[in-house]
Amino acid sequence: MPADNLIDGRAIAREVHAETESRVATLKSAGVEPGLVFVRVGEDSASKVYVGMKERTAAKLGIRSETTVLPEDTPEAELLKLLAKLNADSSVHGVLVQAPLPRHIDETKVFSTVSPSKDVDGFHPVNVGRLMLGESGGFVPCTPGGVHELLIRSGTPIDGAEVVILGRGNIVGKPMAAILCQKSGRANATVTLCHSRTRNVVEHCRRADIVVAAIGKAEFVKADMVKPGATVIDVGVNRVDDPAAEKGYRLVGDVDFTAVQPIAGKITPNPGGVGPMTIAMLMRNTVRAAVQQTGSGVQ
Ligand SMILES: NC(=O)c1ccc[n+]([C@@H]2O[C@H](COP(=O)([O-])OP(=O)(O)OC[C@H]3O[C@@H](n4cnc5c(N)ncnc54)[C@H](OP(=O)(O)O)[C@@H]3O)[C@@H](O)[C@H]2O)c1
Repeated sequence: MPADNLIDGRAIAREVHAETESRVATLKSAGVEPGLVFVRVGEDSASKVYVGMKERTAAKLGIRSETTVLPEDTPEAELLKLLAKLNADSSVHGVLVQAPLPRHIDETKVFSTVSPSKDVDGFHPVNVGRLMLGESGGFVPCTPGGVHELLIRSGTPIDGAEVVILGRGNIVGKPMAAILCQKSGRANATVTLCHSRTRNVVEHCRRADIVVAAIGKAEFVKADMVKPGATVIDVGVNRVDDPAAEKGYRLVGDVDFTAVQPIAGKITPNPGGVGPMTIAMLMRNTVRAAVQQTGSGVQ
């Protein structure tokens, strides 16, 4: 299988981590230790894995992190009280509440309670608004921010490109569209945002120079949906039954990788594409938060 068209998310994430690590070192020499707090509610197994990975990466880069785990039946008011305390703690620069939250807790209310200046996930309405307006001071959500970085660092032309995004979720699809449609040399794309009510999804995809798939449907993007030479970014993480696998399932993306790779100009593997970038952008946002809150002037 030719691998020369792969966008190596692990290698690009390492580049971003190296930049972050050097900023952390500069911050520390100026007396600032970037601090990140994770808040997890309940025992969702995927959330445990994700937070564990983020903690380990923070430690490697020299970012101080700690995790507060609250029981599944924690009242919403108690979680909001904890967030208010973290907002007021000047040693904490970033706060991340791991989704999904238990059903009795209103996620929107929670994300709106984290101070916009510590909202390293980029979900607070102020940061969502800043992204929409093209303002540079806010925080961009980590997954679409990571996809943007993958496109730039893999040398994929974005300016003037036709981009089709599959999925209009608040975490990936919508912010991805907002990033790529900005009037900026790093964007300037013509963006089409498809969803479950879109007619002719296949036709839209076929004319795209860049396809970003974020719908959560296993191997949805087939070879006949991709223009030869197009760049294909697979954000999806889907469990499919596999009796031969140790756990009885395996994880696949939203793109039928085996069929699409031979015709794509560039393509992200999955795993090893978007996932590592999500964590890299979180660490970068945390250091930016520390710089902004302490006025340290580190670039
Ligand atoms: N790698 C990472 O770091 C990372 C991070 C976040 C998410 N993800 C993965 O990315 C995927 C999307 O996540 P999300 O949070 O954005 O999901 P989401 O909020 O549930 O959004 C899914 C979107 O897909 C659309 N959709 C569903 N079926 C479709 C179809 N047949 N044709 C066209 N559009 C369709 C839905 O349309 P409607 O709006 O009409 O319902 C919705 O807009 C998931 O697999 C998730 O696990 C990965």
